[in-house]
Amino acid sequence: MSDRFVEVTAPSNIAIIKYWGKRCVDLNLPLNSSLSATLCQDHLKSTTKISTSPRLTDDELLLNGCKQSIPQNSRIQKCLSQIRSAARMQGIRQGNSSLDDIKVASQKMKISSTNNFPTAAGLASSASGYAALVFGMGKLLSVKGDLTPIARQGSGSACRSLHGGFVKWQMGKEEDGSDSTGYQIAPETHWEELRIFVIVVNDMRKKVGSTAGMQLTVETSTLLKHRVEHVVEGRMKTACDAIKNKDFPTLADVIMRESNQLHAVCLDTNPPLRYLNDVSFMIMDMVHSYNTAVGSLQAAYTFDAGPNACLFTTKSRANEIAWLIRNLFPTDSSDSDFFRGMSVTMSAPKTSVMQMIDLNAYSSNMIKYVICTKVGDGPRLVSCNDTRLLSCNDTRGDAAD
Ligand code: DP6
Repeated sequence: MSDRFVEVTAPSNIAIIKYWGKRCVDLNLPLNSSLSATLCQDHLKSTTKISTSPRLTDDELLLNGCKQSIPQNSRIQKCLSQIRSAARMQGIRQGNSSLDDIKVASQKMKISSTNNFPTAAGLASSASGYAALVFGMGKLLSVKGDLTPIARQGSGSACRSLHGGFVKWQMGKEEDGSDSTGYQIAPETHWEELRIFVIVVNDMRKKVGSTAGMQLTVETSTLLKHRVEHVVEGRMKTACDAIKNKDFPTLADVIMRESNQLHAVCLDTNPPLRYLNDVSFMIMDMVHSYNTAVGSLQAAYTFDAGPNACLFTTKSRANEIAWLIRNLFPTDSSDSDFFRGMSVTMSAPKTSVMQMIDLNAYSSNMIKYVICTKVGDGPRLVSCNDTRLLSCNDTRGDAAD
């Protein structure tokens, strides 16, 4: 039996309809369905290398070069053991042809994962990290079928990072969580004019992580109950239709309302959770002021559990938005260091629009840098040392509708 090795990358995602609150902590089942856009891996990704060998005596994990323990019953341990048992079950069903996979599933693994963007700063690093782990393990052990329920148990939002394009995480009804899965509603090629600016305000780790924060919200917020019972379903339909019809103003409206409501339920938590900072609010003001000046919603902000913003816009408006960010938020950085990712040319809005925008600049260096990106594809197998693994079926599951 030979040693095996895979290297994979997985994308981050930004929630359009937010997941905040679990109905079952143990299985990581959400209180509501959610929807996200997968961000292009050329600009934001986790890279994970997994090797297995009969000589390894323990599972080993390195995150951004630092050795981590893998405690019993931890989420990572759950993901590892579930993929191993899926490989064994599949091997047993397939008989002799899979004996190697069954043996490899019993071997220890060495896993090394790195991100090319700030960790735990509300940029969904756990989503891309768990998606890369689960996708990579699935490839290494030739596991076929939908792995989104396993990724979900690593981190809820990770099940959405197993697909490219626009992805829905259906909350499901089953008690065992088997129907709580992620699937693509539209591929990354569907709406190529969309542009996303990830505005990095602060790359410090957040004080209260999403997992603990949302649990506290479930226990203390009455607004969350209202949101889950009366708001999310309607917005989900509006957002999915707007994506299907490439209706940017309607999508922009839902995106901003969802972000605002997420942070409203955070403030309705006791004690309150505060993920946004003053710069986040300055960015919101800039977007509203631009939309008012142009007379329709042509840009939208959204924030997950951190102060960094994701701005959605379209290709035809991206140059003006870039100009606005650069001029309202002066910086000591060069243009090329400030704007990363896809190349962007800045162009000032026309005079009639400029006259309506408050162009007073904030003080310098409030924004660290901006990653210019777009909607991207799902996880990629970068390399492996066994050509059989290249041909194994996809582990991302089929679209549910
Ligand atoms: C605000 O997926 O990080 O980004 O399931 O506990 O790991 P766990 O939570 P996580 O929460 C993400 C919350 C969010 C909104 C979203 O991505 O939908």
